[in-house]
Amino acid sequence: MKLPIAQTHLRGLAVVLLAHTSFAHSSPGSLGQNTTCNEQCHQLVKLGTEFEAESFAHTPLDDFYTIPEMFNTSMEPGTLLRIEAHTDLTNYTVPSSLTMSRIMYTSQNLNGTVVPVSAFVLWPYAPFQSAVGYEGHGRGHQPQSGDSKFPMVAWAHGTAGYFVNCAPSNYRSLQYNFMTSYSLALEGFAVVATDYAGLGVTTRPDGESSHEWLAGPAGANDVAHAIEAARKAFPDQLDKEGPFVTMGHSQGGNVAWAFAERQAVSPIPGYRGTIAISPVTRLLDLVDKALAVAASTLPASWPLWVPIVIGLQPPITASITTSFSGYNFSGMTPLSYDRWNNVLKPAQGCLAAGGLAFADVTLDQLARPGWTNNSIAQHWQQEVAAGGKKFVGPLLVLAGEDDALPIDFLEEGVASSCNAGGDPSLEMFTYQAMKHFPVIQASRMRWMGWIKERIAGGNHHWMGKEPRTCGQNTFVEGLNTNYTLQPITPN
Ligand SMILES: *[C@@H]1O[C@H](CO)[C@@H](O)[C@H](O)[C@H]1NC(C)=O
Ligand SMILES: *[C@@H]1O[C@H](CO)[C@@H](O)[C@H](O)[C@H]1NC(C)=O
Ligand SMILES: *[C@@H]1O[C@H](CO)[C@@H](O)[C@H](O)[C@H]1NC(C)=O
Ligand SMILES: *[C@@H]1O[C@H](CO)[C@@H](O)[C@H](O)[C@H]1NC(C)=O
Ligand SMILES: *[C@@H]1O[C@H](CO)[C@@H](O)[C@H](O)[C@H]1NC(C)=O
Ligand SMILES: *[C@@H]1O[C@H](CO)[C@@H](O)[C@H](O)[C@H]1NC(C)=O
Ligand SMILES: *[C@@H]1O[C@H](CO)[C@@H](O)[C@H](O)[C@H]1NC(C)=O
Repeated sequence: MKLPIAQTHLRGLAVVLLAHTSFAHSSPGSLGQNTTCNEQCHQLVKLGTEFEAESFAHTPLDDFYTIPEMFNTSMEPGTLLRIEAHTDLTNYTVPSSLTMSRIMYTSQNLNGTVVPVSAFVLWPYAPFQSAVGYEGHGRGHQPQSGDSKFPMVAWAHGTAGYFVNCAPSNYRSLQYNFMTSYSLALEGFAVVATDYAGLGVTTRPDGESSHEWLAGPAGANDVAHAIEAARKAFPDQLDKEGPFVTMGHSQGGNVAWAFAERQAVSPIPGYRGTIAISPVTRLLDLVDKALAVAASTLPASWPLWVPIVIGLQPPITASITTSFSGYNFSGMTPLSYDRWNNVLKPAQGCLAAGGLAFADVTLDQLARPGWTNNSIAQHWQQEVAAGGKKFVGPLLVLAGEDDALPIDFLEEGVASSCNAGGDPSLEMFTYQAMKHFPVIQASRMRWMGWIKERIAGGNHHWMGKEPRTCGQNTFVEGLNTNYTLQPITPN
């Protein structure tokens, strides 16, 4: 199978960077010398890391992220390790009236090992108050200006990168800016946003990734313990059992869905429901599907998601290695292995550098044929997949018609969760012509309203509007969708 280089979103980013930057005068960085990465490849990766550094609040990461001496792996998950009550916002683009804190706390990774994790809390000027008040303050409670406790949205971010310095709490825009975090805080919700283990704080000082990318249940632990730790850190602002909704996008959609499943096993009090936007469900099955389409049709007729999913193979094999070291990147080709370990890892590159390090690698050189059949890889998928398990809703799934993840595949995941039984409160909406990030804004009216209803209405599923069928997918038409600009990244 000989595939041409295609425009994945990462490759698209490479083009954007190239179009706007002259690199005639830059010299090769101090990257690995003995690799397949030639002069131009090194220049590109350097461009990527410089671009990334400009979007960070601190380069390198500031002392906040240093693991305190007191940390040990016998600690209870949810233990507070560090509090920064008032983050200096000079280097952030946080809208005025909002403020920010950072915390470090303990969580558990995929195999149950206790790990240190960082998170930010974005504080509104004043708490959201609905006309009916919210449970915890009693149904029918009238809003009072003296109410000082904040309802919460536990935010699960999408892919920010794979190495320690790619933490959203260190992005000047907190990664999603007005798409989610800023908007939620401006509406009165405290946004508690984990970086996920391995981003911001790492237990691998050797530069190896300790971030279990797309391992939903590990991310769900990080979300759950961030909620607990934030409540401990700020008891005057957050009730111990105050109302919260969990929400995530992309990688974070996978995490949010896994969180709804975690609630069926280890419930966190105050839970009012989960929103998963463009969630990843069964990743290796999706890779197989993309490879099958690519093998049987001409590139010109590939849907957008096909080259994007094929382009995800190197980080997937790296993530399997992070969780199961014995796997040792074995799905990668030698070329891919070299670019990941001898180029991207020494550069500690994030998304831009990640795309550029592979910019000249043809799609058939990204991974070994048949690699998804490997037993460790399949075991990994089984552990990390979202869907097909008992969950606690309500669960709202949102996606774009032209998303990086095909709608029919997502519908299979939705159906598998509905079949797992117990909770019919799963609804899905598909937004006409919207891509992976634009769908967040296209669907904002729905999710913002949904959050407010859930927070205001108490812990009642469905609000008297029980979906007719679990998993029903409603198509939403948009105005002038042929004329909207659809950016390829959030930051
Ligand atoms: C690195 O150098 C060795 C010895 O000079 C050579 O055999 C090998 O192919 C090189 N590796 C790469 C990735 O270029
Ligand atoms: C780990 O930390 C806890 C809490 O500080 C302490 O009680 C415990 O003795 C420590 N355990 C080890 C093995 O150091
Ligand atoms: C803001 O960024 C600059 C440049 O990287 C750095 O020197 C400074 O310490 C940062 N300020 C804060 C408050 O973090
Ligand atoms: C999984 O658990 C074992 C035993 O506790 C530990 O040695 C290993 O490092 C863990 N793996 C990860 C990725 O944490
Ligand atoms: C992992 O794979 C690489 C590349 O095939 C090899 O050089 C290395 O020795 C392997 N490491 C382990 C621990 O097996
Ligand atoms: C995986 O294994 C199955 C059964 O062994 C086989 O039918 C299938 O073709 C394999 N897939 C790939 C991609 O090699
Ligand atoms: C939108 O674009 C599609 C594809 O180019 C085209 O088929 C369709 O007619 C356009 N619709 C409108 C309303 O312009």
